[in-house]
Amino acid sequence: MKLFTPASIGPVTLRNRTIRSAAFEGMGKDNNPTPMLRDYHWSVAEGGVGMTTLAYAGICRSALSFKTQLWLRPEIVDSLREITDGIHARGAKASIQIGHCGNMTHRSTAGGTPVGAVTGFNLYSPTFHRGLRKDELKVMARNFGDAVRTARDAGFDCVEVHAGHGYLISQFLSPYTNRRHDEYGGSLDNRMRFMRECMEEVMKAAGSDMGVLVKTNMRDGFKGGLDIEDCLTVAKALEQTGAHALVLSGGFVSKAPMYVMRGEMPVYAMTHYMEQWWLKYGVRLCGKMMIPTVPFRELYFLEDAREFRNALKMPLVYVGGVVSRDNADTVLDKEGFDFIQMGRALLNEPDFVNRMRTEGHRCGCDHVNYCIARMYSREMACHKHLDNLPEPILREIENIRRRDKERE
Ligand SMILES: Cc1cc2nc3c(=O)[nH]c(=O)nc-3n(C[C@H](O)[C@H](O)[C@H](O)COP(=O)(O)O)c2cc1C
Ligand code: SF4
Repeated sequence: MKLFTPASIGPVTLRNRTIRSAAFEGMGKDNNPTPMLRDYHWSVAEGGVGMTTLAYAGICRSALSFKTQLWLRPEIVDSLREITDGIHARGAKASIQIGHCGNMTHRSTAGGTPVGAVTGFNLYSPTFHRGLRKDELKVMARNFGDAVRTARDAGFDCVEVHAGHGYLISQFLSPYTNRRHDEYGGSLDNRMRFMRECMEEVMKAAGSDMGVLVKTNMRDGFKGGLDIEDCLTVAKALEQTGAHALVLSGGFVSKAPMYVMRGEMPVYAMTHYMEQWWLKYGVRLCGKMMIPTVPFRELYFLEDAREFRNALKMPLVYVGGVVSRDNADTVLDKEGFDFIQMGRALLNEPDFVNRMRTEGHRCGCDHVNYCIARMYSREMACHKHLDNLPEPILREIENIRRRDKERE
């Protein structure tokens, strides 16, 4: 059985096959790390994981969509170094997800008009955004390279490039968001150009001592987005860039958010924490329609991921609905993947990896997704660890649980 055997991502060897996925902690303050962020990742490292990933860090100011996100820049290297030193001291490796949110932000957070593949209006944020000029795309690609160098200075072993979920690189890949008429738009080959340019800078900066993972979509998850055939082409192009591993995901935050994580979005909980009244009541009114439920099941991406396993030679990381030792063994031993990533299982139980050594243990996550609803306004937390949640939130959790049971 592979689970507790070491394996490598490029030049970096992990003690076992488990990785804490990039799941936004919302624990930054003014885009800087905090002791809370440090303590969470130390607890995951202590809990036996092979590598833990600090979630989404912006590669430049316009890449930020929340004040609680990290902005990866030289000023925070020392505090990040404290986090990575502590992770290493606990036997795990450290990775950081680097990305640009494209149009999914606001002027005040991004420091100017949000940017994207094209000019338009993003209903989800909601915000106007402008299309990036060609000269700006070159700078953006170099920002990805600079982020890798900063990550190295901060002691990270790996970076994970966010090329999925409708973030900037994915906004270029998808025909839904990329209607450009220059060499960055049109054919899929053209739409992949920006990704290839970013990856060229990333691989150059990573050199021979850092591992590079790329989180990529297997489908955008809505009509008009990328389907599996397109995504296989993208994955093959990523393999050609020399990236060391792909994390296979799917979904598009502005169109199909629950396709990424599955289950129902607790809309009441989400709006409960919102501060702007118009957004609070707008989302409470239309949230169910804007964020459709995509039923959860264990290993929900496995069928699609299998197609990628058959088509690619490079190391592949499976993510999506790993909740038990059985799931992990299926993915690694039966299906031939190299690593597993887990988000909610390690949010619910930071020491889940150590507990998986006990055959058959299932994590305590119920996939009611309170943590997802909360991340837009508060630091990451699992409802199972919180006392005194307001009555309407508890009622919503119960109702979702009941509906999930009916769907099974
Ligand atoms: C609270 C929360 C925040 C997330 N934030 C991110 C993120 O910043 N970047 C990302 O690529 N995926 C993000 N995800 C998706 C997870 O990394 C992972 O792909 C998904 O949850 C499926 O894995 P799981 O079933 O093990 O939770 C997030 C998931 C959760 C639950
Ligand atoms: S809040 Fe719910 S979905 Fe999130 S980790 Fe906890 S139990 Fe799982």
